[in-house]
Amino acid sequence: MTATASGYGAWALITGGSEGVGAAFARQLAAQGVSSVLVARKAEALAQTAAEVRGLGAQARTVQADLTQGIEDVLAATQDLDLGLLVLNAGANSYGHDFVDGDLDQHRGVVDLNVTAAMGLLHAVGGRLKARGRGGILVVGSMAGYVGQERISVYAAAKAFQRILTEGLWLELRPHGVDVLHLVLGLTRTPAMERAGLRLDGAADPEDVAREGLEQLAHGPVHHVGGHQRSAGHLSGFPRDEVVAGHADMLRRLYS
Ligand SMILES: NC(=O)c1ccc[n+]([C@@H]2O[C@H](COP(=O)([O-])OP(=O)(O)OC[C@H]3O[C@@H](n4cnc5c(N)ncnc54)[C@H](OP(=O)(O)O)[C@@H]3O)[C@@H](O)[C@H]2O)c1
Repeated sequence: MTATASGYGAWALITGGSEGVGAAFARQLAAQGVSSVLVARKAEALAQTAAEVRGLGAQARTVQADLTQGIEDVLAATQDLDLGLLVLNAGANSYGHDFVDGDLDQHRGVVDLNVTAAMGLLHAVGGRLKARGRGGILVVGSMAGYVGQERISVYAAAKAFQRILTEGLWLELRPHGVDVLHLVLGLTRTPAMERAGLRLDGAADPEDVAREGLEQLAHGPVHHVGGHQRSAGHLSGFPRDEVVAGHADMLRRLYS
């Protein structure tokens, strides 16, 4: 447990650190004196966020990589660093097609990012932090991970996987001085959501989300941003036919 993020170590690894919530994490960590390795696919946004981090007095390293293709480059870029914090943020690859009508390879892409790459990074970095006896892991989750949904069923299932895995890690790493948190987001105004053309009325601001996440990092295993815990409780409840169908009806009304 640490009062500021700099207590975890000099460097953070942020997947999806180029924009939205990931970039907000990078800026706020930089303001606390923590440097970042930023991972994303698009070079321009990466370079821009890296410049902002440097402007705040911290260092930045960028890795232009598609996490669905493997995590080797990302791990290699952190090997020589005093890495104290992993922020697993990239993950809004929801594809958005009904399961059987969608392309299986596209569904696999959601799993490649949110399950395979996430698991690999948690295993590698979690092991490093455990051996070091100090560190933090923050996994960015979604309310979608509490309930089956139309069109994003694989994404919702992958986010549920992340949450349960994170809870287990919290138990396992707590005795070794590593804070672990699953940070559950509701609708948040990120570039990815804006590009997707979603209606974003009332969406959270990425800076507020990152601030709340860093404040709660030592209080795992799960924190719901913006007071969504009550809804998460409802979505986890029974009977499942009422909960799943009721939530689907609510979403259809919201987006019709
Ligand atoms: N925004 C919301 O309303 C919302 C709601 C609930 C949960 N969340 C969660 O919040 C997190 C961030 O979401 P977001 O809305 O900012 O969208 P996102 O699509 O996860 O994008 C965030 C960052 O991830 C990078 N990224 C995406 N796919 C990648 C890949 N395959 N390999 C490497 N980097 C990749 C993006 O840069 P590039 O595109 O350049 O790669 C960007 O820097 C996700 O885990 C999502 O599940 C978001």
